[in-house]
Order: sequence, then structure tokens, then C-alpha cells
Amino acid sequence: MKTIAITGGAGFIGSHVVRLFVNKYPEYKIVNIDKLTYAGNLANLKDVESLPNYEFVKADIVDADTMMQLFKKHQFDAVIHLAAESHVDRSITNPTEFVFTNVIGTVNLLNAAKAIWKDNFKDKLFYHVSTDEVYGSLGEEGLFTETSNYDPHSPYSASKASSDHFVRAYFDTYGLPSLISNCSNNYGSYQFPEKLIPLFINNIRNNKPLPVYGKGENVRDWLWVEDHARAIDVIFHKGALGGTYNIGGHNEWTNIDLIKVMCRILDKKLGRPEGTSEQGITYVKDRAGHDMRYAIDASKLQNELDWKPSLQFEEGLEKTIDWYLENENWLENITSGNYQAYYEKQYIKR
Ligand code: NAD
Ligand code: DAU
Repeated sequence: MKTIAITGGAGFIGSHVVRLFVNKYPEYKIVNIDKLTYAGNLANLKDVESLPNYEFVKADIVDADTMMQLFKKHQFDAVIHLAAESHVDRSITNPTEFVFTNVIGTVNLLNAAKAIWKDNFKDKLFYHVSTDEVYGSLGEEGLFTETSNYDPHSPYSASKASSDHFVRAYFDTYGLPSLISNCSNNYGSYQFPEKLIPLFINNIRNNKPLPVYGKGENVRDWLWVEDHARAIDVIFHKGALGGTYNIGGHNEWTNIDLIKVMCRILDKKLGRPEGTSEQGITYVKDRAGHDMRYAIDASKLQNELDWKPSLQFEEGLEKTIDWYLENENWLENITSGNYQAYYEKQYIKR
């Protein structure tokens, strides 16, 4: 029996990782540590919450004492660390929050692991989940590899880059067994509707404007969230200690092309005449420091650990759109309250 702490398990990607591990590995005890910020939602885990190998602990990773207590109490064998402030736009308005959670929170977890494992690191693992944004922005050509230089531009990516450096520093300095993966943009069910795909599905559904930053020419490499969770599973079990693995979909889209595809699919699904939803496209002021292009070379993961995406993007996008349309209650609950204040600040006063 292994006990694994998954931080940020009530968020978008974390909930998919928790679901996969709890169901696939009944011999593991999974302890989900989450502060339940605006982005954390226990409704994301309704289907697994009563399973005997799952436990939820509401806690803030910025609270060092509590992290140490949790490590003492549960004697974790491994950590899969996903808890983070994750939205670039929020990092532009409130960078400090990102330093607390993403940098200090990560260092607190590293310290707790180091102290409780007492430098006896056999069979222990600290798995840090990170982003391709640490590599900065690409021109028209090329892909990010595991050896690309770090060149973050937003407060979010700077905080994630910093946390990656700390994880490597603990490996190099103390031998703390760790792994890092850097993934491209995820899409799928349970994503908070501040991110492009669920935001636009929700706005199209409600006949609200579709706010495209700049000219909509920025490129992102989209990966289905369940394929990311599968990659985390493979890397967790087979990845080389001290290693880094890039995870991506080989699936680049300019924002505007992606938005137009979503509009077409939703016109059909909502029974609207073709071209209706596109009329909502509104070009708004660009995001400050907006990275132009992200694209991942995931060949190391494919060649060494035999992982590849399972789903074609068109199929995944359609599945995702269906999920949001079928889960109106989830969307309605999440877009009430604080979300309204955020939305007004971010978009109405833009
Ligand atoms: P999310 O914002 O949906 O979820 C983050 C979770 O962390 C929430 O449940 C939140 O409550 C929790 N959390 C935040 N601050 C906390 C704190 N101080 N203490 C404890 N819990 C806290 O994020 P996501 O999109 O699921 O991303 C998860 C991880 O994956 C992040 O580390 C992110 O950097 C990384 N990542 C995300 C993407 C993506 O496309 N979304 C791509 C690559 C990497
Ligand atoms: O690349 C991985 C990263 O992907 C993760 O590390 C982040 O946590 C995750 O949020 C995501 O970052 P992005 O900034 O790429 O995602 P976002 O959904 O915010 O935006 C995607 C693109 O769409 C980006 O070029 C900005 C643009 N956009 C976004 C929003 C919210 C718009 O044009 N309009 C919008 O309203």
C-alpha cells in the first residue's frame, strides 16, 4: 500500500489525475490536498469521493506547518504536485498570490518531504507538474524540447519556472527524488470557465461577446486533459529520477481558427443557422506580454515511455463541448458569485 499526496486535486487537471489514480490503483491511498480556491471544486470529484482509497484534506500549501503535519500524519510515499494559481490573466492583476502559492507553496512541500523522508529517499518521489510556458514564446518555427532555455514572460510562468528550479535544486543539493513534466494547453471537462475553451463555450451558449485578445493569431498546442493524466501516470511510474518530460498534443491552432471551429460545432448543436455564433467574435485589447506561440516536442516521452495522445482534437473538442452542454448545472454553479466580479473586471471594463 502506497500513500500518495495529490495537491490541487479539486482543480481541472488534478481532478482527472485523482480520478485516474483512485480507480486504477485500489492499492494506493490517495490524499487530495486542496485549499479550494475559486478554481477548486469538490463537485469535480463526486464520482470518487466515497471510494475507500480516497481522502480529501482542505489545506493551503502556503501554510508550512500544516504541510509538515500532513506529511507526519500520512507518511506519504510520494507527492504529485499540481496545486497552483494557474490563470495568466489573474497573474497579471495579482502577481504576488502566484509567488505565494506557486513558489513558496512548492518549497514548503519540498521541505516537508525532505524532513519527513529524513534523507532516506528509497522508493520516494516528488513529482512536480509544470507548464510549457516556462520556455517562453516560439517564432513560426521550432518546438520546445526538454533542453529549451527557460524564458518566462508572465508572472504566472515566472512563478512556475521558479518552482521548477527549486525542485531541481532539491534534487541536485539534497538528492530529493523528483521528476518534472511540462505540458501544453489542456482542454476537457471540469475546466474553470476563465480559460479560453470553456469560457467561449459558455459565452456562445449565452449569446455573450467572444473576446479575442489581439488579432487572435497566437498559437497554442492543445492536449486532451485525460491524455495529460495518462502521461502523468506513466511518468510517475516509469520516469527517470531527476528527469524532465515534455507533454504535448502535436496539435497547434491559432486562437481564431480554434474559435471558429467551436462556433461552427456549437451552431449545429444549438440548432442555430450556420454563422450565428461567429457574429459574437469581438477583438479586444491584447493580453500584456502575450506569448505568440507554444508547441511541444513530446518525442522523449513517446520514445522512452511509450506515451502518445489517444484522441484526435476534433473528436476531443466535440466531446468537450457536449460535456459542457450536458453539465449546465456545473457551469451555472461555478459562474455565479465571485466569477461575476472577475468577469466584469477582466472583460466589461477592458
Ligand atoms: P486549476 O486552477 O484548475 O486548479 C488548481 C487547483 O489548485 C485548485 O483546485 C485550487 O483550489 C488548488 N490550489 C490553488 N492554490 C492552492 C493553495 N495555496 N493550496 C492548496 N491548493 C491550492 O489548475 P489546472 O489547470 O488544473 O492546473 C493544474 C496544474 O497543472 C498547475 O500546476 C498548472 O500550472 C499545471 N498546468 C496546467 C495546464 C493547463 O492547460 N491548464 C497545462 C500545463 C500545466
Ligand atoms: O500552455 C500551458 C498553459 O495553458 C497552462 O500552464 C496555464 O495554466 C493555462 O491557463 C494555459 O495558459 P494560456 O494562457 O495559454 O491559456 P488561456 O486559456 O488563458 O488562453 C489561451 C489563448 O487564448 C491565449 O493565447 C490567450 C487567448 N485568450 C484567452 C482568453 C481567456 C483570448 O483570446 N481571449 C480570452 O478571453
